[in-house]
Amino acid sequence: MSSLAVSPIAAPSIAAAAPAPANINPRPPRVVEGHLSKIKDWAISTPPFARAWLENPFTQGTPIPLSPYAAQEMLKSFIPEGKEPCHFLEAGAGTGAITAQAVKILGPKDTLTLVELDPKLCGVLIARFGNDKRVKVYNSAIQDWKPLAGEPQKYDGLLSSIPFNSLPSTEALPSAELLKDILGAYVRLVKDGKPFAHANYVGTSTLCRTGLSMLSTRSSILSVVSCGEKRAKAKAGLVKAKAEFDNFVAMTKVWKDFRSQHQLQETMVKMNAPFAWVNAGTLKAKTE
Ligand SMILES: C[S@@+](CC[C@H](N)C(=O)[O-])C[C@H]1O[C@@H](n2cnc3c(N)ncnc32)[C@H](O)[C@@H]1O
Repeated sequence: MSSLAVSPIAAPSIAAAAPAPANINPRPPRVVEGHLSKIKDWAISTPPFARAWLENPFTQGTPIPLSPYAAQEMLKSFIPEGKEPCHFLEAGAGTGAITAQAVKILGPKDTLTLVELDPKLCGVLIARFGNDKRVKVYNSAIQDWKPLAGEPQKYDGLLSSIPFNSLPSTEALPSAELLKDILGAYVRLVKDGKPFAHANYVGTSTLCRTGLSMLSTRSSILSVVSCGEKRAKAKAGLVKAKAEFDNFVAMTKVWKDFRSQHQLQETMVKMNAPFAWVNAGTLKAKTE
């Protein structure tokens, strides 16, 4: 895990706002922005996001970042309040499509910590938010990441858009196990009862399931119609395809169980390409 950047410069707009007494942490009012400003935010994220997708299609999920509308749906229950600073965490911040909306609700003493797997995207995040001292960027997989000593060990809310349906799967670590590790980290890193929101794209689960079942069908047909070495190869392929399909089914069950354990509410955001699902609620350290 490496900490990439923390800029010491305060955001000019915040610094220019009313200087607050030391014990007060005033939050900016929530502003309803026009479509044009939202589209501008979206446009900034898209080119580096598409480039990252070409390099890492599985960890990236899709070539288009989440929209500011999806981000706002995720942020509905993130309400920093009180004079104590609030510390939020974002897992898989990508190019900052959600971050850009999240920073707008922070007070001068609140913080937003970004944990992103792709080092190039960490560079994009630093270029975009590096002058805001409330934002910290870490290059790490969230399941391996541990807060530094002196930093919050548990957060007041967690935003996530890691593409669970396309997580990489290996024999050593099937994606169902990887997802368990990621969700375990989420529960470990968020304070009991604090908000959690996860976004993913509508249709990706069906797409992956269909692709994997087509692979199995192809291998089973080949293992019947071919002979000799080709048949042996097809049979081995069938075993692999079946294992991948079973793992995908196991992975979707892990996510389904997590959603029902924490009673997450699912909302469809149509102002996103493709449509997005936002699952939101509060994470509980212990579930019945
Ligand atoms: C679908 S993208 C969303 C990014 C961002 N919300 C956006 O729309 O611009 C998911 C991001 O999660 C990152 N990611 C995938 N697996 C991760 C992990 N285990 N830990 C941290 N980040 C991860 C990917 O590198 C990618 O940038």
